[in-house]
Amino acid sequence: MHVLVIGSGGREHALAWKFKQSPRVKKLTCAPGNAGMAQLGECVTADVKDVAGLAALAEKINADLTVVGPELPLVLGVADEFARRGLPLIGPTKAAAEIEGSKVFAKEFLKRHGIPTPGFTVCSDHGDAYVALCAVEWPVVIKADGLAAGKGVRIAPEPDDATAIIEAFMEKRELGPAGDRVIIEEYLEGEELSFIVLTDGKSVLPFAPTQDHKRVFDNDQGPNTGGMGACSDEALLDAALRARILREIVEPTFRGLEAEGRPYQGFLYFGLMLTADGPKVLEFNCRMGDPECQPLVVRLESDLVDVFEKLAAGRLGEAELRWSADSSACVVLAAQGYPGNYETGKPITGIEEAEKADGVAVFHAGTKRADGKLVTAGGRVLGVTARGADLRAAVERAYAAVERIRFDGMHFRRDIGARGVEKLAAQR
Ligand code: AMP
Ligand code: GLY
Repeated sequence: MHVLVIGSGGREHALAWKFKQSPRVKKLTCAPGNAGMAQLGECVTADVKDVAGLAALAEKINADLTVVGPELPLVLGVADEFARRGLPLIGPTKAAAEIEGSKVFAKEFLKRHGIPTPGFTVCSDHGDAYVALCAVEWPVVIKADGLAAGKGVRIAPEPDDATAIIEAFMEKRELGPAGDRVIIEEYLEGEELSFIVLTDGKSVLPFAPTQDHKRVFDNDQGPNTGGMGACSDEALLDAALRARILREIVEPTFRGLEAEGRPYQGFLYFGLMLTADGPKVLEFNCRMGDPECQPLVVRLESDLVDVFEKLAAGRLGEAELRWSADSSACVVLAAQGYPGNYETGKPITGIEEAEKADGVAVFHAGTKRADGKLVTAGGRVLGVTARGADLRAAVERAYAAVERIRFDGMHFRRDIGARGVEKLAAQR
């Protein structure tokens, strides 16, 4: 079977790595891929915004299955274009992907269906926003409506901060049309959990629980990023809470989408805050998480191609996901300046040495080959991922592997998984 992976990040390298382990995958094409993916399959030049071009590529190479990593092509309708041409693809239609593409749609949808989410006000111009800010408790969270590559959510501790954010989003239009409407949202305290599921519209297959680390610095300081590391361990979520999430959040979401004429197929990522009042939805992503994908695939024992094939045939109910009893952790190595402006083209060394250790896989994100040398080509550069008998062992292994890797300006968090380790120790 010939599998096409769309995207070029750590998530896509991790998916490609998993596909390569399937005896059923004879050929792998990555569009556009990165230097890590180039070791697993053929990378072809592609623009992920060009949905017709992606479908033409799948047709040309006779792809038996296409898996989409990033949200942008899904929000632009890549699944609709593939369906029109009769090409199998894992991912929601444009209408269903609006659940990520518009935060206003997502919040109003949650409210319509009584699904727990923080309180909010939608503001269509800056005047509305300044009025709404007169009636909030501080801090508040301000979210741009549209896709903003991780830059659209800001926490405002005080009125002056909020005013500056509204000015940046709505008056200076720093995020372009994505900031034309904003949500002013109640700030919640609690622990975050990435709850990711696959669905074919009928059955729901939850992935193992994962936790991301969104802020750039240790102890959750500094600006938000796409994610600086993630970990996975079965004990991060107990059976009662898992059942509650499925009952109060996951099931009503898919029922609601179906009832509104937007049936869902593919990955849906529920970004949850576990509060004293129970789990609440902070955001939806219409795709797998990045970096959550990296610690997940190293624990997954089932053949993901089988699962996707059943999903594409509407028989996901027959599929299962088997997980190793191990825990896992992924530490993201980022370029100097990330999540702001960063430099590229810095030579990277030590990946082979890092991967010599048992249970370690180094997934590439922003990397490329230039004159035969591996160099940095993005903000998040590598995801050093390790399995271990428990979360502490996985984290230690990942950091030992990180020690082997070097590039100019490299930075990373030193506390990935630390909260998880603490929580699990307290349960014993
Ligand atoms: P989002 O893209 O909506 O998940 O927001 C990015 C990050 O901002 C989340 O992962 C949280 O860390 C934080 N965040 C978003 N909404 C809230 C909220 N209502 N209360 C507290 N933190 C939030
Ligand atoms: N790690 C967060 C995300 O995938 O959006």
